[in-house]
Amino acid sequence: MANVVVAGSQWGDEGKGKIVDLLTRYADCVVRFQGGNNAGHTLVIDGRQYIFHLIPSGILYEEKMCVIGNGVVLDPAVLLEEIDGLRQQGLEVDPQRLMISDRAQILMPYHALLDRAGEAALAEDSRIGTTGRGIGPCYTDKVARIGLRMGDLADEALVRERLKAIVDEKNFLLEKRYGAEKINYDDMLRHALACGEKLLPFVDNVSVRLDQARRAGKHILFEGAQGTHLDIDHGTYPFVTSSNTVAANACTGSGFGVTHIDAVIGIVKAYTTRVGAGPFPTELSDQTGRELQEKGHEYGATTGRPRRCGWFDGVVVADAVRLNGITGLAVTKLDVLSGMKELKIGSGYTLVDGSVCHAMPARISDYAGLAPVYESVEGWQQEISAAASVDQLPQTARRYLQQIEEVAGAPVDIVSVGPERKQTILLRNPFATKGSSE
Ligand code: GDP
Ligand code: IMO
Ligand code: MG
Repeated sequence: MANVVVAGSQWGDEGKGKIVDLLTRYADCVVRFQGGNNAGHTLVIDGRQYIFHLIPSGILYEEKMCVIGNGVVLDPAVLLEEIDGLRQQGLEVDPQRLMISDRAQILMPYHALLDRAGEAALAEDSRIGTTGRGIGPCYTDKVARIGLRMGDLADEALVRERLKAIVDEKNFLLEKRYGAEKINYDDMLRHALACGEKLLPFVDNVSVRLDQARRAGKHILFEGAQGTHLDIDHGTYPFVTSSNTVAANACTGSGFGVTHIDAVIGIVKAYTTRVGAGPFPTELSDQTGRELQEKGHEYGATTGRPRRCGWFDGVVVADAVRLNGITGLAVTKLDVLSGMKELKIGSGYTLVDGSVCHAMPARISDYAGLAPVYESVEGWQQEISAAASVDQLPQTARRYLQQIEEVAGAPVDIVSVGPERKQTILLRNPFATKGSSE
């Protein structure tokens, strides 16, 4: 039995969806535990691309249970759309295959309205560049203790009552603060009840069900969304998302005991990308950055925005190794670097006072004037997307991976050389920890 967390270790879009899909083969349950449909997780299987925003990336395996934990902010309309999309492709998603926590917060239409109005009201250089999906406002309501949860939908009187106060407050904000159009109580009530009618059959006590699975010796895979440096506490605040993205939240966000986690796989791209605003020390605003963007198809899976690109940042990843307790790395998109003469890996930052630091600064103002310290690595010219083992990689690519291990302080367990499930080199299976059968 092994329970494994997959955590994004940069600023999101590291290739978590692909690796979760791959590892689902060895798991019985796949659990989303934070974030919402700000996430866009891409899988490519036999040339066919799937992008999931809320449904766990294990859904394509028919015999596995997919779970949406209490830590997720769930937009029911988006989830229903995903379920419909899968149905049109012949994949029936029923309560045997998908479970939703009764404690998951419901992301309502007013959350997205407030997200967008809030961003628009900020000065341009203060905007976070959110996905506009309502994530921040929904988590705000959770912490303010005024949110609606999935289990509440079974109690119509409670929903009616709670929504009155909520709609009053949201209309005050929309109209008085943002000069935007008001929302209508009846519309919100209808929306909530209609979603309840369709989704209540999926709602259950996730903590109880996961504990039963664990006791029965099942393998549980936790699918992180976003990345470590978008974490509300540990990320480049305030340019972050509104949830804890680190591995520890796999437990809080699903009601799973912390002592039962056996391994944490940190997903890292072989270079660095970021979508939205905020510090990015190794960003390349030149031709090399554009080359990475084009070769890596670096456009957001949720918003289609171009992703900013730069060299692999060892400070970012070493921080992630510490913050998540990473036991092994999955390095993705190594193939994108083929053909580049010289590669660089950031190993520290020089601050304005001349000192060198090896951890991400907490204060946003410290990123101004900070300069990465680079190590140069020789590139490789040949294509590597057909490599089936590390031996089939050029010596220079193997050296690059070794340098990543050294600067990050964690071993590389998985190497991805293309978007397809089969374009993966599995060096060490995290489910093989602790006496697993695989
Ligand atoms: P996630 O949010 O972490 O799941 O990542 P995204 O799906 O947003 O972005 C990763 C993108 O890279 C997707 O388009 C994947 O299909 C693609 N991808 C994943 N691994 C590889 C790889 O090893 N090589 C290449 N070329 N593409 C990859
Ligand atoms: P996956 O799971 C990359 C970024 C947004 C913005 C900031 C806050 O696909 O890796 P939010 O809408 O969450 O309030 O936006 O976080 N962001 C992501 N960037 N990948 C993601 O998810 C992201 N989810 C949010 O671009 O900068
Ligand atoms: Mg993504």
